[in-house]
Amino acid sequence: MKLSRRDFLKGAALTAVAAGAMGLTPAIAEQTQSAPAPTPTPAQKNPDTMNYTEPYMVTLHPATEMNIIWLTKELCNGYVEYGETPALGRRVEAVSYRFEGLRKSATPEGYDPIPENNPELKVGQLIATLTDLTPGSVVYYRVTTVGSKGEETGERYFFKTAPLAGESFEFVLLSDMQMKVRTKETIKILGQADKDFIIFAGDMGNTPWKAGEWFNVEGCYEVPGEEDRGFFECLHQNTENTHLLQYMPVFPCPGNHEFDDQRVCSDKTFALDDSKYTWRVYMQMFRPLYPQQDYTLSGTRWYSVDYGDLHICSLSISRWNAWDGFEYPGWITKDDISPDSPQVQWLVDDLRSSKARFKWVTQHWHMLNRGEDGYYPVSVAVEDPDNPGRAMYPDGDYCWDVLRPIYEAYGVNAVNFGHSHVYERYLINGVHYIEAASIGNNYRATGDPYHFSGNQPVIEENNFRSFMRVRVNAQGMVGEGIQASVEASDVNTEVGYCGRIFETFTIAE
Ligand SMILES: [Fe+2]
Ligand SMILES: [Fe+2]
Repeated sequence: MKLSRRDFLKGAALTAVAAGAMGLTPAIAEQTQSAPAPTPTPAQKNPDTMNYTEPYMVTLHPATEMNIIWLTKELCNGYVEYGETPALGRRVEAVSYRFEGLRKSATPEGYDPIPENNPELKVGQLIATLTDLTPGSVVYYRVTTVGSKGEETGERYFFKTAPLAGESFEFVLLSDMQMKVRTKETIKILGQADKDFIIFAGDMGNTPWKAGEWFNVEGCYEVPGEEDRGFFECLHQNTENTHLLQYMPVFPCPGNHEFDDQRVCSDKTFALDDSKYTWRVYMQMFRPLYPQQDYTLSGTRWYSVDYGDLHICSLSISRWNAWDGFEYPGWITKDDISPDSPQVQWLVDDLRSSKARFKWVTQHWHMLNRGEDGYYPVSVAVEDPDNPGRAMYPDGDYCWDVLRPIYEAYGVNAVNFGHSHVYERYLINGVHYIEAASIGNNYRATGDPYHFSGNQPVIEENNFRSFMRVRVNAQGMVGEGIQASVEASDVNTEVGYCGRIFETFTIAE
């Protein structure tokens, strides 16, 4: 979403009373709430570095395999040393890719609105695949870049491989960063919570081709106030026991802000031209999850993984157009989720064949939230013959009429999404529908209509920033809403404290 309703600017009023709920010391909670010192980016710490980013990780086989990825300022070689102790001992060479489509601003004063008028930035991507790992183990590693300035070795980090079935683990939900105010502070608190991986429900930045939205680029324009809120600047914070992308894999799905050319969301001509829908930057960023690397509408942007007892499906469902959804040609959804679409057929086969104890789906489109945009059905519109210019959706809402029955039929325990930038969840026929995206701003207005089905949320909490953690163990799966700020609410009161678990609920037993 793009509307701006509430921006959580207030932050200094916190008294860190009892932040121990998630293991934070009061001192840390207080510091994260007031004015944290920005974490230096690799470029700031070392101007001579050959790297744009620290390492991050994705995997389709989290028990035994991990892809270590980092971005460089030139086409480099590289390798990863790793092992089950800090002494490392094993080494694997990285594969080098040219990362295409990231652009520097035309001038230091700003980007040209036409992407091609901004110079493409030379970016290299190194990916080292660690294989034959032991399930449920800790793996230490460090990356080395080999380029024009010699060898540059990074810090030593570690990650956990997924455990075998029956073992415990934890994860957090994240989405809709988009350089919103206070996003970085929320993510730091999220980084200090116990967790083994992150599920990211899309909307990483605002415009994927703008390199400065991902990492620091010398001489590249950044919106005043957003200078240190880039994707990796937030997600590579590592001071004060903050563990983020260097320490755990992320399982993303694309949102509407992952369309390469955002004009499909704002320009009718672009929106109606299928060739304008590409996901080149997103799919390269998480390359091992999308091995076919087909960035067009015929590409595959869905995958599944098994993490211990949990089966995770990641889908691609996004929409946002510049006109009212009942104005013909109506809102356009990409990727297709009609009943016979490749994505839905894959989803049915995947869920049917999974023997996992628990099943989870992540998708960007908020299929069950309050808000007016939920009234535009997710299907292809036709023009109303009695009312020219008016859009009708004779096929109904594919989220409600196609996906929901699939989720119910195949034992999905929870579906999480983003897009509304709210904290709101539902429980319908045994399936939990969760948006925990009050990360850096919030779009919920108190008068927003309920979902067209008439369902009302079990809980909505939009008076402060928060995130959700999920714990999985032998007893089942439990969700926790964790407060990440204290704000002046709509009723002009301040409530809670940073780190407070403001709700706990059973997802599955
Ligand atoms: Fe968003
Ligand atoms: Fe969105």
